[in-house]
Amino acid sequence: MSFPYNSSEYDGFGQELEQKTAYCERVVKERIPEPEELEGSDACASVVVDAMHYSVMAGGKRLRPLFLYETCRMYGGRTELAEPFMAALEMIHNYSLVHDDLPAMDNDEYRRGRKTTWVAYGEGMAVLAGDALLNYAYETGLKAFDLCEDGEERTRVINALRILARNAGIYGMVGGQCADLEAENRPQETDARTLDYIHKHKTACMIESGFVIGAVLAGAPQEDVDKLGRIAENIGIAFQIKDDILDVIGDSEELGKPVGSDEEEGKVTYVTMYGLEKAAEDVRDLSEEALSLFDSLSVQNGFLRELIVKLISRTK
Ligand code: IPE
Ligand code: IPE
Ligand code: MG
Ligand code: MG
Ligand code: MG
Repeated sequence: MSFPYNSSEYDGFGQELEQKTAYCERVVKERIPEPEELEGSDACASVVVDAMHYSVMAGGKRLRPLFLYETCRMYGGRTELAEPFMAALEMIHNYSLVHDDLPAMDNDEYRRGRKTTWVAYGEGMAVLAGDALLNYAYETGLKAFDLCEDGEERTRVINALRILARNAGIYGMVGGQCADLEAENRPQETDARTLDYIHKHKTACMIESGFVIGAVLAGAPQEDVDKLGRIAENIGIAFQIKDDILDVIGDSEELGKPVGSDEEEGKVTYVTMYGLEKAAEDVRDLSEEALSLFDSLSVQNGFLRELIVKLISRTK
């Protein structure tokens, strides 16, 4: 994947990011069964497995597993234990995108530079591919128990699964998507508080899973885990504001998804509510806030810090 952070020089950070993105991709890919692997009557499920692959392997920034890996690493955790969670989180993210693109939701035909799953496989199969990814995410996360070396690690895995499940569900991403969908029908009634709820839940919660699960698996101090939750909330809201900005002024070729989709769907976004200038300013402010909290953690991670900075000026 090309370096998507609008940097004039492709530096050491760019190389490291590319290598780590490729690693995250491998971690996910290795854990999704190949359609040909399905034996006997299980082969009846091969189309849905094919559709899972189609959506997951189309590329993507792999930011959520990358956050998880980096926070695990910075607290000296065993990354072997993080890998099932990296894969699970990216599977849940992908399921959310497959369903988000459906005609009944955002009605988008392009994602990651290719036709969306529902266009390629039909709506019914796209619903099932999303369901399959969500379910397989938990099957994958549960495999972390097989890697635990002691009771302490088992407790960490249980806590990580709790966070993963909660942030994806009604108190997290699904809650946010529900409010997003409702706001589409009642744009006049969508106020700043509702939009804040939408951004926090549909987007920041899944980013929080990355930041917090890695630290929890590594046994980070509770004070740091709490701070990482707040850091992720700021980054997550900034990430969605930036996504709303790019939906207006981005390059659809580079983004790999259509520009102008929000307007077409009559969405209330950060841009429609505050304008482009204030939106860009808030991306910076929220990221600055995240960075100053990041600097107060008990350990440091220069690569992750740089990534947070680079996300401010991302172009895809
Ligand atoms: C897209 O997420 C959905 C939002 C939460 C805005 P990403 O921008 O991380 O999508 P990929 O995974 O890189 O395609
Ligand atoms: C979606 O937000 C967030 C999800 C939980 C999938 P958007 O609908 O703005 O994401 P894109 O622009 O389609 O990637
Ligand atoms: Mg949407
Ligand atoms: Mg969408
Ligand atoms: Mg969007």
